[in-house]
Amino acid sequence: TAGKVDFANPLGIPPLAESSPDPSGARVFNLEIKAGATALKPGRETETWGINGDFLGPTIRAKRGEEIAFSVYNGLDEGTSIHWHGMHLPAVMDGGPHQEMEPGGDWTPQWTINQPAATLWYHPHPHGRTGAHVYRGLAGMFIVDDEESEALPLPSEYGVDDVPMIVQDRNFDGDNQFKDGGSFLSTQGILGEEITVNGTLGPYFDVTTRLVRLRLLNGSVSRLYNFGFADDRPFSLIATDGGLLPTAWETNRLQLSPGERAEIVVAFEPGETAVLRSHPADEGYTAPLGRFNGADDRLDICEFRAAETLADETSIPEAMGTAPDLDPSEAAEERSFSLSGFSQINGESMDLGRIDFGVREGTVEVWEVSNADGYMHNFHVHDVQFQVLSVDGAEPPERLRGWKDTIQLVPQRKYRLALRFADYTDPNLPYMYHCHILAHEDTGMMGQFVVLGEGE
Ligand code: C2O
Ligand code: CU
Repeated sequence: TAGKVDFANPLGIPPLAESSPDPSGARVFNLEIKAGATALKPGRETETWGINGDFLGPTIRAKRGEEIAFSVYNGLDEGTSIHWHGMHLPAVMDGGPHQEMEPGGDWTPQWTINQPAATLWYHPHPHGRTGAHVYRGLAGMFIVDDEESEALPLPSEYGVDDVPMIVQDRNFDGDNQFKDGGSFLSTQGILGEEITVNGTLGPYFDVTTRLVRLRLLNGSVSRLYNFGFADDRPFSLIATDGGLLPTAWETNRLQLSPGERAEIVVAFEPGETAVLRSHPADEGYTAPLGRFNGADDRLDICEFRAAETLADETSIPEAMGTAPDLDPSEAAEERSFSLSGFSQINGESMDLGRIDFGVREGTVEVWEVSNADGYMHNFHVHDVQFQVLSVDGAEPPERLRGWKDTIQLVPQRKYRLALRFADYTDPNLPYMYHCHILAHEDTGMMGQFVVLGEGE
């Protein structure tokens, strides 16, 4: 339902963040958050926010086992934070609303990467203003590598055959400025009619290899994408939020709600072009009260232009990551969460001073999460990756068989999740769980838990 996209601009590839070792051996990244301006359309530049630049942020890349540190500076004239979405780390390093920086303030988190290779991301998480800050441009990718992933024959040359794609929707006013129409706090938040990928409007990408790996991130405030190609060609899903799947799954559609990531591998023929688009949502994922979150839209996203000669040196291996294998019969606790009214979980809105519950270090829990409404929500948990045990009592579909940290909640359905809280106890500082439709998160559809150690 949106205008024609002319694919006139080369897809911007976020630079890899630079780092240098500190005396302790940790690798230190400097991140500066600031306001800037970006030429997105002919005429006046768009006022944007960025990290180490005018719009979006660099891609951070680190390897399992590495100790990394950040020096984050808030150059905005309002408070903000940086949250490492999908990262397993101590609550004090998490970058949620309890780690907000004042204007001109800084923050220096440090931790050791301890999770499998995955496509994660980072974005602000200030109380009540996450949607506005992400929409202005504060978001970046965070790629984790490990020994196993580096040994695989998958496409892995950054920006060449391994391409980050931060997909976001935006509206512009007549003066080329982002328009939110005051709609952040409405039922569905904001739905933009124009798509940016890595901050580029109407992007094309020059393909030089037969296989290309796309790291897709739904970085939108509230839009649902049903990724596929205009010619319906198949592609392989190789990774979900938490990392590589045991084996690739071939499909021609992949639906991602805000905050979710997926890695797919697509094959191209010499000389052809192919358009990645968002198709109307699949049957079964739509809402009885209407097709919210852009579920009816068909939006072109990026044109891929294959060269006449394509390098052919990569492949999709038979075996990649490991399957989630938590045992729900060992669960120390079962909890249920009902999302309703676009601002409440279990009848309560977020209160920074309230800790909703504590989980025990070293235990597995089963969480039953349901969407009590007639429109979409999703559910994101900080600190851990979870396993989807069932959807309305049935086996989860293929696309939900890997590790996840964010899951779309179809209206009136129940999802059983298994989570393991291995370490990082802190009786006072909480992690969050919330709807990642940022409009809902910002109106309070969020709660907090702590991880408790022995005797706490
Ligand atoms: Cu992507 Cu609580 O956040
Ligand atoms: Cu929601």
